[in-house]
Amino acid sequence: MASPVPHTLPSHSGTAGTSPGGCPAALGTRAPLDPLDLFDDGFVRDPYPWLDRLRAEAPVHYDPGTGLWLVSRYDEVRRVLLDPTLFRPDNALRAVTPLPVAALRILARAGFTLPPALANNGTPSHPGLRRVVSRFFNAERVAAAIPVIERVAEDLLDAARSEIEATGRCELFSSFAQVLPCRVLMELLGIRGVAPATLIRWSDASLELFWGRPTPDRQLELAELVGEFHQWLTDTVRGYAAPPTSFIGALASHRLPDGEPLDIGTAVAACFFVFIAGQSTTGQLIATVLRRALTEPGLWQHVPGRTGLAEAWVEEVLRREPPVTTWRRVTVRSAELGGVRIPDGAQLLLMLMGSGSDPEVFPTRSGCARIGRTSVTTSRSASAVIAARARPWRVQKRPWPCA
Ligand code: HEM
Repeated sequence: MASPVPHTLPSHSGTAGTSPGGCPAALGTRAPLDPLDLFDDGFVRDPYPWLDRLRAEAPVHYDPGTGLWLVSRYDEVRRVLLDPTLFRPDNALRAVTPLPVAALRILARAGFTLPPALANNGTPSHPGLRRVVSRFFNAERVAAAIPVIERVAEDLLDAARSEIEATGRCELFSSFAQVLPCRVLMELLGIRGVAPATLIRWSDASLELFWGRPTPDRQLELAELVGEFHQWLTDTVRGYAAPPTSFIGALASHRLPDGEPLDIGTAVAACFFVFIAGQSTTGQLIATVLRRALTEPGLWQHVPGRTGLAEAWVEEVLRREPPVTTWRRVTVRSAELGGVRIPDGAQLLLMLMGSGSDPEVFPTRSGCARIGRTSVTTSRSASAVIAARARPWRVQKRPWPCA
C-alpha cells in the first residue's frame, strides 16, 4: 500500500543521501509516523527525513505495516548488536514479505533450506563457523588479495575504456561495481564453472526475495532463480573435490562443537550467505562511492593527490549510506529499549543507515561535502571520529563481521 505521507513532508534539502543528517525542524508540521511505508518510493528515494523523525520522536517505533520494531538511534542499535543473548539473530534471513505457497513449493522442489549457519545463527555452532569465514576474509587475507583485486579492476576498466571509446558511454554499475566484487570473491573462494553474470543475478534475486517487497508474480520468478542458486551450490558443495585450502574444503573439514562434521545443508547455507554478503554489499558500496564522488564538487580531482582522502571518503559513505541499510534481530524475552517496553519475540529492524547519521554521536552533519571541499586534515579527523566510533564494534562478542 503506497502511503501519501512521505510526499506531504517537505522534501529534504539535498538530493537523496546528500545531507542525511537533515534538520528535523525542516520537516514542518508533524504528520503521524504510522503511515510510514518502508517500501514506498518516497522513503526509498530519501529516507533521511523519516530517519531524523524516528530518532527524534520515536527511536523505538512499532511499524504496523511490517510488524517490525524500528530502532533508529546509534546507542540502541549498538546495544542490540552487542547483546546476542537477549536480541537473537534468528530472523536475519526470514522473508520480510511473506512467501505465497506457490513460491514455497518452488523453493521446496529445489531443496532450498537455510538452517542457522552465519548471520541467522544464534546457536553454539556459530563461533566455529564464523572462524572458518574469518580465515578467508581477515585483514591479512584481504591485504594479500590486493594484487588480485587490482588485476580484476584493471581488466574491467580496460573494457570500460574501450566501450567509452566506441560508444561514448559506459554503465559503471553493471560493468564495474557489481562485477568487481563478484570476480574477486570467485577467485578468493575458488568458485569455477559459472558466469559472474549468473552469480550476480542469483545473488540479487535472493536479496529481492528475502528483503524486498516483490509482487506475488515476481516472487515466483525470484523463487525459481533462488532455487537454481541453491541447487547449484548444493551440487558444488557435494561434488567438489575441494582442496583443504579452499572455503568449501574448510567447511568440509570443519567440526561442530559435538565433534560431528557439518551437514551439506548448513555448508550450503554458509556459502549462500557469504556470497550474497560479499557480492551485493560491496557492489552497492562501490556504486554509491563512485556516484557520490562524481557529484561532490571538487572531490574527484583531489582524490589522486591527497593521501588518505579516498579511504576517508569510503568510510564516510559507509557510515552515512551503508549498503546494508537495516538489519534484523528478535527478542528472546520482553525488554526495555530506549525507554520503550518491547514484547517477547519482537522483530527488530535496526536502521543502520540512520544510526550512522545520529547527531548525538556524529555532530558533523555534512562531513562528505567538507571532505570534498577542504583539506585532508578534515578528512583525517572525520576518519578518526569514525574509527573511534567503530572500535567498540570490534570487541563485541559477536564481532562486527566485516571490519
Ligand atoms: C561492504 C560493506 C558491508 C557491510 C555494510 C556489511 C554489513 C553486514 C552486517 C550488518 C552484518 C550482520 C552483522 C550481525 O549480525 O551482527 C553482516 C554479516 C556478515 N557479513 Fe557483511 N557487510 C559488508 C561486506 C561484507 C563482505 C565483503 C563480506 C565477505 C564475504 C561479508 C561477510 C559477512 C558475513 C560472513 C557475515 C555473517 C557474520 C556472522 O554471522 O558472524 N560482508 N555484514
